[in-house]
Amino acid sequence: MGFARVGTVDSIDLDQCVTCRDFQEAARQRLSAAAYDYYVSGALTEWTLRENERAFHRWRFHKRVLVDVSTIDASTTVLGTTVPFPVLVAPTAFHRLADPDGEVATARGARSVGTVMVASTLATASLEDIASTGVERWFQLYVQNDRGLTRSFVERAVAAGYRAIVLTVDTPYIGIRYPELRNRFQLPEGMELANFGEALVSGTGGAGDESASGLRAFSEQFDQTLDWGDLEWLCSQGESAGVPVVAKGILTGTDARRAVEAGVAAVVVSNHGGRQLDGDPATLEALPEVVDEVGGDIEVLLDGGVRTGPDVIKAVALGARAVLVGRPVLWGLAAGGEAGVERVLSLLRDEVIDGLRQVGVPRLADVGPGLLRPALPAVDD
Ligand SMILES: Cc1cc2nc3c(=O)[nH]c(=O)nc-3n(C[C@H](O)[C@H](O)[C@H](O)COP(=O)(O)O)c2cc1C
Repeated sequence: MGFARVGTVDSIDLDQCVTCRDFQEAARQRLSAAAYDYYVSGALTEWTLRENERAFHRWRFHKRVLVDVSTIDASTTVLGTTVPFPVLVAPTAFHRLADPDGEVATARGARSVGTVMVASTLATASLEDIASTGVERWFQLYVQNDRGLTRSFVERAVAAGYRAIVLTVDTPYIGIRYPELRNRFQLPEGMELANFGEALVSGTGGAGDESASGLRAFSEQFDQTLDWGDLEWLCSQGESAGVPVVAKGILTGTDARRAVEAGVAAVVVSNHGGRQLDGDPATLEALPEVVDEVGGDIEVLLDGGVRTGPDVIKAVALGARAVLVGRPVLWGLAAGGEAGVERVLSLLRDEVIDGLRQVGVPRLADVGPGLLRPALPAVDD
């Protein structure tokens, strides 16, 4: 990382940002140290965080040449919604740390490229304000101890036109991230969890909370008794409302099968961006087992470490319907608000299109496992 972190740069020349990594460097210059550390960090030693990106380097392409690639179709459908390229916005918390318009700016950026935004329960703009942008949207749910509040989140999301409920299943408690502890991370004064209104119990991470990381106090409100029965309950609620349920945070075939039995329409193979269990496998490594088990029954998506178009194509080749990106979108938001989000998503789209041309497969729908071979162990990455 070549740039000093100053956090006080007024604006970024977005034309100088042509990769996800460029946007990360720009975000580093724009954000406070505490916000940057919150976004970038992973659990404990960050081994899983690093593995997510490294796993993409363990596959190489087995491409075809002399194929007519004058027309490329990178589109797909996710739960019935057509997206022009297979990259969705992952749910991430606290977007107003990156931009004053927060999740509303993210939503506008996602809308301008025509993809789906998964809005977090822990958003700093209300789910209704996000919906008012007109973005294609799914709602990510953290089940709260207060089940009345949880039910109201689901009802509000359905009423506001969210087309899926994404239950995060890997976060009974927020993972330990050392930088947050060192920084005694708190939400800045005046920044609120917009979906909650008055429903946050006192001491849960607002300004002035003196606990080691204010975030861990949010966890106290998460329902740690959550189990498969609750997923079944949510799926039955979703069915009556006509809204499918997605389980996010599945890493094994066994759990994927149980999720199908509970009634989900899709799973996201995810380790929460390496922020929960240090020692979880890279998501790309976990993907084939899940696809083998349930790929014939439901849609399988993946997130974690996706930073380039070839990464996207590799995930699709191994059976993912589409991928989600978390941090790159936050980097775009920090670097340039709505326009920055649009740029990050556009560069990924352009790299996917270029990748399909380069591998000689003009239609994303024709990408399959035959396109990949295991890479020889590398000495340089
Ligand atoms: C700063 C940050 C906040 C996150 N907040 C949430 C959240 O509120 N809900 C959730 O389900 N996942 C959350 N995640 C996990 C993401 O949805 C996603 O799984 C992860 O970011 C994908 O990895 P990537 O950042 O390498 O793309 C968060 C991730 C980050 C980096």
